[in-house]
Amino acid sequence: MRVLVIGASGQVGGALTSLAVRRKIEVYGTSRTGRGFLYLDLAGPASIKSAFEKSRPDLVLLCSAMTHVDNCERSPELARKINSEGPGLVAEECRRTGARLVYLSTEYVFDGTGGPYGEEDPVNPVSVYGRTKLEGERAVLGLEGSLAVRTTVVYSHNPASKNFIMQLINNYRSGARMRVPSDQFSNPTYAPDLAAAVLELAGKGASGIYNVTGPDWLNRYDFALKACAAFGFNPAFIEARLTAELGQAAARPLKAGLKTDKLALELGHGLPSSGESLLKIAGIIKQYE
Ligand SMILES: NC(=O)c1ccc[n+]([C@@H]2O[C@H](COP(=O)([O-])OP(=O)(O)OC[C@H]3O[C@@H](n4cnc5c(N)ncnc54)[C@H](OP(=O)(O)O)[C@@H]3O)[C@@H](O)[C@H]2O)c1
Repeated sequence: MRVLVIGASGQVGGALTSLAVRRKIEVYGTSRTGRGFLYLDLAGPASIKSAFEKSRPDLVLLCSAMTHVDNCERSPELARKINSEGPGLVAEECRRTGARLVYLSTEYVFDGTGGPYGEEDPVNPVSVYGRTKLEGERAVLGLEGSLAVRTTVVYSHNPASKNFIMQLINNYRSGARMRVPSDQFSNPTYAPDLAAAVLELAGKGASGIYNVTGPDWLNRYDFALKACAAFGFNPAFIEARLTAELGQAAARPLKAGLKTDKLALELGHGLPSSGESLLKIAGIIKQYE
């Protein structure tokens, strides 16, 4: 089987690529800027065609997106091009070549008034990022047999990534204070566990929408305290704030998060707890010290 990971330079695409390599799957990764990748820009149809021609994939894992939520709010046209139209072009290429398609989607398709959400709950995004990702999801699901994996608050130890846990580690090390919302509830998800579940779902030929998140539903401040406890950091640099105090350009779903009963039913297991994953990261941090 040949797999094309679109957005292999990112946090989730990187975790998927590493896992596929470890499993000896023939895998190709894309980036607009990184070395050693096939070039692919979701805003450039010719580059999508060319990456497909070079990799001839049986399975495409679409991880690329404009992921900076506030930048999407400031540049809605660009966000639409990358997050909505890009996945449509990829789906079209999959239809033409017969490749199966898996799309990484988000809990931001919901408004955050009634989470955690199941797959069938009505969507109502409150930001440009959420709206454009939902359009991308719909474009992908228009292709028969495709799979949309909704996830949230993805974290990992990855110095190239600005994920929440790397921000926390970097702020602690540089002595900076960190303002963290205490009113955003969600399910933190460890990228390597997400990658394993995505490959398992793809292997089983799952289609439609699946939520894939960690099991713990907690607010971002409590998650930060949990991480500090696991890493042996004094949490005095963490300041609890309400989202409204942070002055962010885009609205956030507050009572969000995703239910994973459907995933557990399909796989026979859920993802490990954030306690377990944070201890794994603590081990990696120790190795580097
Ligand atoms: N991280 C989270 O907490 C989270 C939560 C819910 C859903 N998701 C979804 O999961 C997916 C992966 O997220 P992530 O955390 O891995 O994001 P990330 O680390 O920010 O990576 C984003 C990826 O998108 C690529 N990209 C950006 N603009 C592109 C463009 N115009 N054309 C092609 N590629 C482009 C980047 O590659 P280059 O810059 O190298 O081209 C990079 O590989 C995204 O679809 C995101 O919406 C993430």
